[in-house]
Amino acid sequence: METVMVNASTAYPVHIGGGLLEKTGELIAGVTKSRACAVVTDTTVETLCAARVCRSLQDAGFQVCLHAFPAGERSKNIATYAGILEFFAENKLTRSDFAVTLGGGVVGDMGGFAAATYQRGIDFIQIPTTFLAAADSSVGGKTAVNLSAGKNLAGAFHQPKLVICDTDVFRSLPADTFADGMAETLKHGLIADADFFDELTRGTPDVDRMVLKDVKIKAAVVNEDEFERGKRKLLNFGHTLGHAIEKCSGYAAPHGHAVAIGMVLAARAGEKMDFSPAGTLDAVVAANRKYGLPVECPYTAAELYAAATGDKKRDGGDIDVVVLEEIGRARTVRLDMEGLRAFTEAAL
Ligand code: GLY
Repeated sequence: METVMVNASTAYPVHIGGGLLEKTGELIAGVTKSRACAVVTDTTVETLCAARVCRSLQDAGFQVCLHAFPAGERSKNIATYAGILEFFAENKLTRSDFAVTLGGGVVGDMGGFAAATYQRGIDFIQIPTTFLAAADSSVGGKTAVNLSAGKNLAGAFHQPKLVICDTDVFRSLPADTFADGMAETLKHGLIADADFFDELTRGTPDVDRMVLKDVKIKAAVVNEDEFERGKRKLLNFGHTLGHAIEKCSGYAAPHGHAVAIGMVLAARAGEKMDFSPAGTLDAVVAANRKYGLPVECPYTAAELYAAATGDKKRDGGDIDVVVLEEIGRARTVRLDMEGLRAFTEAAL
């Protein structure tokens, strides 16, 4: 097992390795004095691995209750979030108890937001069960729920007490679901580590190595800029138009696949608008193809622009988009709405 420390406003370990689900109880016992918890999961993960996690928690002496909501991005809404809060209250969770989010990004984001707001905040532990969630959303304390107007529009920064990444679980994922995590992994190489991107394009590193690199890169960014005032915005490479794609698809497009296309679009716009050197687009397209990720956008510039104007990355009348200055180095560009329209048109 490898451990990366995140040193944000609170410090916490991220454990990475095989066979960790069975050790959930003992790992959590090391970071809390509380004896009661609620495990929040979705109906898919409930069938696959909730019993193992609950048993491990019970064996370590914890009192456990389990709440599962229907799997999928469409569940990420205020009604499901309210259901989690009601479940906490019905099970008499107190301020000194904690939540365990067992699942992909939807479970982690929404369960984390419920933990952030229940009784003004209780502790929570993230156990990502997708490569995507391990590579990105489980680390860094962003918690959220979608509103009708867009993704993650209600949320809070609330750092977990501990993150447990069982890499055996990621190895068992269907190829398409695994590819979602590759999109965020490629993103980390593209924005912060040219050698890692090169390694990803030459071969396919073991999943343990990729998660370790993902978490190290993300932790370094979060340690410097927890509340996304500057550097953390770079993690949004591919996300402004990626979120627009998700919205245009009615949230049927998987996040990683949408971000993969969003990175292609940002690379193309970056080149056309002279932010990125020639060859950037080809490198992103080739990497996506290698890992079975899409490169074509099924929506028009007008559709993407309409969807992107509701994005929470807007700041007053402006929006920050991320472009690559070279492979391994990114910067933000502040655009007004006309600039965003031009960027979107250049992207397609
Ligand atoms: N997913 C981007 C971030 O955590 O900032």
